[in-house]
Amino acid sequence: MRRLLVCGSNGLLGQRLALMLGGQTEYEVLNTSHHRSFVFDHQLFDYTQLDLRRASDVKSLVSSFQPDVIINAAGATNVDWCETHREDAWAANVVGVEHLIDAARKVGARLIQISTDYVFDGKTGNYTEEDRPNPLNYYGKTKLAGENAIRISGITYSIIRTVVLYGSGYRVKKNFALWVLENLKQGERIRCVDDQISSPTYVSDLAHGVLKIAELGKTGIYHIAGSEAASRYEFASRIAAAFELDSSLIERIRTSDLSQRAVRPMNTTMITLKAETELGLKASSLDQGIALLKQELHTSRKN
Ligand SMILES: NC(=O)c1ccc[n+]([C@@H]2O[C@H](COP(=O)([O-])OP(=O)(O)OC[C@H]3O[C@@H](n4cnc5c(N)ncnc54)[C@H](OP(=O)(O)O)[C@@H]3O)[C@@H](O)[C@H]2O)c1
Repeated sequence: MRRLLVCGSNGLLGQRLALMLGGQTEYEVLNTSHHRSFVFDHQLFDYTQLDLRRASDVKSLVSSFQPDVIINAAGATNVDWCETHREDAWAANVVGVEHLIDAARKVGARLIQISTDYVFDGKTGNYTEEDRPNPLNYYGKTKLAGENAIRISGITYSIIRTVVLYGSGYRVKKNFALWVLENLKQGERIRCVDDQISSPTYVSDLAHGVLKIAELGKTGIYHIAGSEAASRYEFASRIAAAFELDSSLIERIRTSDLSQRAVRPMNTTMITLKAETELGLKASSLDQGIALLKQELHTSRKN
């Protein structure tokens, strides 16, 4: 049986991967994350704490588990926090990746790294895997440095860039969709920009893509993103409509009205043709993804 090591299992994507992998028989899976404990305290899941910043811990876990594939869904993902906590962001997003590279090289494992649309400057949108990155903020710079470390390492790798992930999870960092829902349900006004355009990605679509890449042994860079472009304002409005919430609470603003610490790329829509043709992926449209989110929130409330 092939062995699969997942890093960042407490995060939004990591949790979804754990749920999809739980109970299957193709891989022996070891979930890991920064925290002492796993959000899913159940015998279905094997979990070990692993801080990627600790070289010797990464090395000894990888050499004892001997994974065939490592999926790195861990990292510092709060864009504004990364801007002001540069050393910490670098440690998680670059040094941690370097530790995984060294460990993967020793056991001959393949590394699947999750990266971001924020490696691009957002001047043109419709980015392909061949387009030249030019990150505007520190988070994007760390993620690109992580990509570059992998690309020059000589190990077998795939890099998956994704965009504005949304979905539900247990104690996950609040993603845009959950933030919109929480506020609108409480009757709170929110301000959403109509000039930052992206392709919001439903987390299960990304998780399917990651596992497809693992299964097919694909290498190189892949863009995996939602099939529809939208501004944050449009995304919030679609959420309000699907959940029958009051859309008049959503105020339409421009990026210049916000004082975000990190500069945002304005248009990071992605061309996902490679993932569609090589992996057979068909990502959800906004309305489909929001409907799936509604369903999963409904199910988790019942359980
Ligand atoms: N969210 C987005 O909109 C978005 C967009 C584009 C790309 N991405 C990329 O997609 C990937 C997954 O994102 P996500 O939203 O699922 O992230 P997330 O929910 O923020 O989860 C990241 C996880 O990384 C773990 N982590 C942080 N530092 C660590 C360290 N030093 N060692 C080990 N684990 C560490 C944390 O673990 P604990 O909880 O255990 O502390 C956290 O659960 C990331 O690479 C991100 O850059 C995300």
